[in-house]
Amino acid sequence: MVERYVMSIDQGTTSTRCILFDHRGRLVSVAQREHQQFFPKPGWVEHDALEIWRNLRRIVPEALSGAGDGVAAEAVSALGIANQRETTVLWDRRTGTPLNRAIVWQDTRTAPLVEDLRSDPGDAFFLERCGLAPSTYFSAPRIRWLFDHEPGLAQRAANGDVLFGTMESWLIWNLTGGTAGGRHITDVTNASRTMLMNMGTLEWDEELLGFFGIPHAILPEIRSSAEWYGEDRSVLPGRPITAALGDQQAALFGQTCFSPGEAKCTYGTGSFLLLNTGTDVVRSSNGLLTTVAYKIDEQPAVYALEGPIAVTGALVQWFRDRLELINSAPGIETLARTVEDNGGCYIVPAFSGLFAPHWRSDARGIIVGLTSYITKGHLARAALESTGWQTKEVVDAMNADSSLTLRELKVDGGMTSDNLLMQILADVLDVPVVRPMAAETVSLGAAYAAGLAAGYWADLEVLRGNWHRAAQWLPDMDPTRRASEYENWQRAVERSLGWIR
Ligand code: G3P
Repeated sequence: MVERYVMSIDQGTTSTRCILFDHRGRLVSVAQREHQQFFPKPGWVEHDALEIWRNLRRIVPEALSGAGDGVAAEAVSALGIANQRETTVLWDRRTGTPLNRAIVWQDTRTAPLVEDLRSDPGDAFFLERCGLAPSTYFSAPRIRWLFDHEPGLAQRAANGDVLFGTMESWLIWNLTGGTAGGRHITDVTNASRTMLMNMGTLEWDEELLGFFGIPHAILPEIRSSAEWYGEDRSVLPGRPITAALGDQQAALFGQTCFSPGEAKCTYGTGSFLLLNTGTDVVRSSNGLLTTVAYKIDEQPAVYALEGPIAVTGALVQWFRDRLELINSAPGIETLARTVEDNGGCYIVPAFSGLFAPHWRSDARGIIVGLTSYITKGHLARAALESTGWQTKEVVDAMNADSSLTLRELKVDGGMTSDNLLMQILADVLDVPVVRPMAAETVSLGAAYAAGLAAGYWADLEVLRGNWHRAAQWLPDMDPTRRASEYENWQRAVERSLGWIR
């Protein structure tokens, strides 16, 4: 049978998606399922790892049968996985049962522990080893939190009965056999978000493990982002699993940002701007993260500077699901277009504290500038603008950190179908904003990595040839207005800081 396609799984924050791609990187078929979001306490966000695994098993056959007359599993060259990063699950090695609801990357329950770490031993200790300053965002504090709150768990972990993973580990373990010999694997990009991997050696750092009190036995083996991991024994029996990347690194790969200086921002639940810095580890002085961008087989790892923004699309979801001001996410643009401007109103959506470049877990969301004049249209406009200003803060930090000034921004993700938001971005960043034809860059990046490892694509140049521009937005904002609006935004941010004591 001719291997005609590569399959990718994008296990994201709100849904899991399965896509088949052809040799030109064109989407052939897609299937998707949302999973439940649990908010048991303010600041807590959880997922059911079993529900996510069940969803994956449903969408793979749906994607196969959804392609034309249907595609046989044998026509799939390889399977690659991209995933929401940092979300933490522990499971029982013998039964395969999760021992906790997966604690999602947005969850802030570890804030007290993180504040302690930041004062002693301090940010520098961690930055030096893992490239990350302590934050509620990363996995290691969550593992520690679970050990401290689940009686007997730390002892079971020390006995070797417990496995830890972010979502790619959980899925690969299940896909490759689960309790019957599943492979416990992660890749360098996901491992680089745990606070446990040494950024220089790309191995688990014994000192950090000792510091958090995390036994080696629970950790997956760290592998390259593109290499043979094992054969699927569940949804695509016998087909090779050959890639895993954190979803944002996958998007960088899907956007073919293979050269130092190339950057992309993905606009989803949160937004994540990554700049390829080549094979050098660049450390930030301005609140950005050092992260692994990808590693192909035996080749040297490529690194990135990253500015994560916790809440962008999640604010639109909040408008839809909690405030019920819109019926569907795209409705935010229609609502925002009912007004000329924000009417003096600003929203700082610090629902999970503020990530880059502030890193303040004590921040909470605020709306400022309210008068009786404000309509829901102004609120919608302020919501979209908050994504623009948060991106500007990250771009300013990136320009200050690297010798390269951003000249254009490649964008992708669900929010990029919002044309008003794209114009706002070009206006506030003062650079062209460019969207590629292939909208599903996260899935495409995982497919590219899997297909490279499987020999389906020859090299990076072939992949570059698949990138085509679909749309561009040019800056059109008076500089004086940009400066005064930005100043108002910064004053609003100041007011959101320190709300949690
Ligand atoms: O770091 C969190 C990020 O990987 C989540 O991405 O697209 O699932 O919201 P997304």
